[in-house]
Amino acid sequence: MELPSKRPDDMVRITTPELAQAFIDEQVAALREQVGEKNVLLALSGGVDSSVVAALLIKAVGRQLICVHVNHGLMRAGESEQVIDVFRNQMDANLVYVDATDRFLGLLEGVAEPERKRKIIGAEFIRVFEEEARKVAGDVSFLAQGTIYPDIVESDGVKAHHNVGGLPEDLQFELVEPVRLLYKDEVRVVGRELGLPESMVERQPFPGPGLGVRCLGAITRDRLEALRAADKILRDEFDAAGLAGKVWQYFVVVPDMRATGVRDGKRAYEWPAVIRAVNTVDAMTATVPELDWALLKKITDRILAEVPGICRVTYDLTPKPIGTIEWE
Ligand code: XMP
Repeated sequence: MELPSKRPDDMVRITTPELAQAFIDEQVAALREQVGEKNVLLALSGGVDSSVVAALLIKAVGRQLICVHVNHGLMRAGESEQVIDVFRNQMDANLVYVDATDRFLGLLEGVAEPERKRKIIGAEFIRVFEEEARKVAGDVSFLAQGTIYPDIVESDGVKAHHNVGGLPEDLQFELVEPVRLLYKDEVRVVGRELGLPESMVERQPFPGPGLGVRCLGAITRDRLEALRAADKILRDEFDAAGLAGKVWQYFVVVPDMRATGVRDGKRAYEWPAVIRAVNTVDAMTATVPELDWALLKKITDRILAEVPGICRVTYDLTPKPIGTIEWE
């Protein structure tokens, strides 16, 4: 079944569980008809869009859906584990998990220039996914994607670099894009109705290159680990303060530089951690929220006490423009 490429003017905005359920019923029937007995491949990042597409297809065709989750070693703390837990353990999905950490970090060694880092990560992602696609190519006819409506109508969509593109000629599958006419808020309502956990449904945007563009300059494993640990503290404290879903994006950046401090009476020479939090509608411009001082202080104290290698914490007050949301 071909979905129209433009959202019909009279299409109802999905805002309630009932409307979501009607959408799910309709899509499950349509997906069954489109896919038949064939198999479908999906790159499952764990972001809300690909997760909703996975859950829809699992409902429609069960284990005929083959999900491939590529862990590039640049995921946030606990993310790959959550994908495995939700999809393999709870939804009995046919999930291929590829831990490609060493491949990605090996290729990135000594590479400091942000756009080169992005290119390396993007190209390697396609290579790893292609290898997995080849293993099942004979049996798979369809490629599912979490394309949503803003990706189609906005040429500079937030996710422009995110989708799996560039598969070679001999691996051309027919596309399945069940949420392509939905806006982000509708995808979240549908995801909730499909039983996905709230932390997945409300997940903030996360760039394709992941922590790779937040561990500034040439990535080293120790600094990446410090970033991941500090970022987890930040996210946990935002969650505890009820800010998840209220502040658009929040994360930690660790620059490739050191600052002095005093730890246990001795001079320390360690990395600073930068807290970045922004609100935006379309990611083209962004403002910095006035966070509660006690929250900032708690995050700072915890990072300094719990994360080895970090001896200083700052809050970035730069709006976009002039600063981009990410630091690289
Ligand atoms: P900037 O830093 O350009 O970010 O203000 C705007 C939004 O885009 C996200 N972003 C990316 N997303 N691949 C992605 O999929 C990327 O390379 C990339 N760079 C930035 C960023 O997180 C923010 O939401």
